[in-house]
Amino acid sequence: MSQLSLAVDIAGLRLRNPTMNAAGVLGISGPLLKRVYEGGAGAVVTKSLGPVPREGHHNPTLVTVEGGVLNAMGLPNPGADYFVDVIRWLKGEGVPVVASFFGATIEEFRDVACTLSDAGVDALELNCSCPNVVEEMGMLGADCLNTEAVTAAVKEVAKTPVFVKLSPNVTDISEIARGAERGGADAITACNTLIGMAVDVDMRRPILANTTGGLSGPALKPVALRCVWEIAKTVDIPIIGCGGVTNWRDAVEFLLCGASAVEIGTAVMERGVEVFGMVVEGIRSYLEVNGFKEVKDIVGLAHET
Ligand code: FUM
Repeated sequence: MSQLSLAVDIAGLRLRNPTMNAAGVLGISGPLLKRVYEGGAGAVVTKSLGPVPREGHHNPTLVTVEGGVLNAMGLPNPGADYFVDVIRWLKGEGVPVVASFFGATIEEFRDVACTLSDAGVDALELNCSCPNVVEEMGMLGADCLNTEAVTAAVKEVAKTPVFVKLSPNVTDISEIARGAERGGADAITACNTLIGMAVDVDMRRPILANTTGGLSGPALKPVALRCVWEIAKTVDIPIIGCGGVTNWRDAVEFLLCGASAVEIGTAVMERGVEVFGMVVEGIRSYLEVNGFKEVKDIVGLAHET
């Protein structure tokens, strides 16, 4: 009988396997998030929740491009208070829940974190990296001192581990990661989407109503891997890899670069929730074939060569 275990521990959060959905993907309702878990994910991540309901940007908010998708949703969400019951329902169904959240100010980040923490989530994912910045909020995560301050404020009220999701749209992501670590982050999620745009040649104007959007999908993977690689060399806290994971090979690449788990986003839109089971089974076979007993045995191995 195999001794192999796919379970991982991320800053005290024990998951049955190292996969989650990326925030925003199927994260808008309890039943959809439950499907993600039933599809094989180790935990589910909610859509980014703010202090009040938001409609988000006007359409078009999504366009398929070569190698991925550009989105400029503008953080639409029903508000953290609304989601409290959804979180409680998911917990009652036995689903581990990570709540992604944001605010326009440090105080708002802290208040929303408090609401979600009190609702009983298993972890918080602080989103200070949305590329589709809306007029009333800047991107706190573009500066390491701001990242440190917002993380520290959230840590004061959080009853669970806090993951800080970083942007690749910065000069030095490892410096920002260091700021998050100094603020008390329990883990880093790397990374959010890369700012890009697409143009309609017939209309002779940008396709997205917001002009620019965040690039996700396979085209983002090399950038996200580089981010994980650099962060792993800089901080001592766990990293969750995110960006273009479509199959088990992608997931293993992230693990080898130093991620302890991966989030899957765009591939869920294309392949359905079954992608989690496929990725998990692929990781299992890789460990078995190569004589490893646990996922953590391969975390960061590419740094040792
Ligand atoms: O526009 C959006 O809602 C995107 C959010 C994010 O990538 O964090």
